[in-house]
Amino acid sequence: MTKPLAIAADHAGLELKTALAAELEKRGLTVRDFGTTTSASCDYPDFAHAVGRAIEGGEIEHAILVCGTGVGMSISANRHAAVRAVVCSEPLSARMARQHNDANVLCIGGRVVGVGTAIDIVDAFLGASFEGGRHAARVAKINLA
Ligand code: RB5
Repeated sequence: MTKPLAIAADHAGLELKTALAAELEKRGLTVRDFGTTTSASCDYPDFAHAVGRAIEGGEIEHAILVCGTGVGMSISANRHAAVRAVVCSEPLSARMARQHNDANVLCIGGRVVGVGTAIDIVDAFLGASFEGGRHAARVAKINLA
């Protein structure tokens, strides 16, 4: 990964985001934190769109978004044509989302999984790469004209 890994959360995902960012930085990854930074109630689309715009602008290529369920973040992020966001609660889907769907944004529910499982999910996502081939033609069909 040549560009920083973006990470963002709303208030419901702040605790998990903080734990994941610390773990990833400990491993030497450059993490760019798009917030939130306090436990004050806030709106997940604001953070998902900030990350989506950064992907569209080429500043980042991959991101991890955390909200209560991961659902709101994924719906919002997927409004950006350059984003393929997935919500994952276990590692297999995270790995397959990279290999078959070329997913570039991983969404996790801070109220759904614990830190240990979340790290396993992130490892599966970051450790996998797009297989291309027949999957490339399918991914090319995802976006509407
Ligand atoms: C916040 O209460 C919660 O709705 C949000 O974090 C997320 O789970 C939405 O999808």
